Amino acid sequence: MAFTLGPRAISAGYRLAAFDHIGSTNAEALSRARDGERGPMWFVTSEQTAGRGRRHRPWIAPRGNLASSILETIDASPAVAATLGFAAGLALEAALKKISIDASPGSAGSDDMKFSLKWPNDVLAGQQKLAGILLEAEAVAGEGLAVVVGIGTNVVAAPEGTPTPATSLAALGVDIGAEELFTTLSDSWTEFRAIWDHGRGFGEIRRLWLERAAGLGQPVAVHTGGSTVAGTFDTIDDTGCMMVRTSSGDRVPISAGDVYFGSTASVGAA
Ligand code: BTN
Repeated sequence: MAFTLGPRAISAGYRLAAFDHIGSTNAEALSRARDGERGPMWFVTSEQTAGRGRRHRPWIAPRGNLASSILETIDASPAVAATLGFAAGLALEAALKKISIDASPGSAGSDDMKFSLKWPNDVLAGQQKLAGILLEAEAVAGEGLAVVVGIGTNVVAAPEGTPTPATSLAALGVDIGAEELFTTLSDSWTEFRAIWDHGRGFGEIRRLWLERAAGLGQPVAVHTGGSTVAGTFDTIDDTGCMMVRTSSGDRVPISAGDVYFGSTASVGAA
């Protein structure tokens, strides 16, 4: 089966570059942006051999997993562009819900199949990581910002030994291909990208994201480079920062970090 865009993505003007294998769809999208491509355009591959994860971690996608990136050129500051990651999480969660209900209606309500959004940019199935999102951006002379939203989903295989346990759709009993998920995701992205509306709609994105947030109100420890902030996950603010309420009652805004919830929060804080 080949990768194809959904009808809403096509109507909205998205184009597609599909590969059998490639180092990184994010790297390819950024390279095209440097060469003058302005999008909106999807990059997708059947196998990714040198993918990039958050915090400079590798993200390898074996054949059968979904590695895809969207290139958008946006007239907004990097801080506003960063909030697109929340729209991407919502788009992926909606696509996963739709395809898993279609593929296995019987197990759609089970705990393992409950999808949630983990700050900043992960999608969980139950307590396990199913997908990750990496935003990268570069200024393009006189034309704003080229933003690349990279989305990696474990369709057939998940990495082992990761700090947050990972799972795949196959392990959850959802028997669908990366191509099918991609088509649904491309339409779902079109919908949430329109709600985001160059950042003007972040209030609505934030509201929808918080409805699906993992760990809200729970103990949390966030590793931010050299230090750890521990407390309770209060909310995300109107810039997308995670707000942590510490035991002294302070509300600490966090713009980047690795998040540990519940019993792992004490491990994270150690
Ligand atoms: C994370 O660390 O959780 C983010 C992972 C993002 C991986 C995706 S796969 C498609 C795109 N291309 C890349 O090189 N990375 C992103």
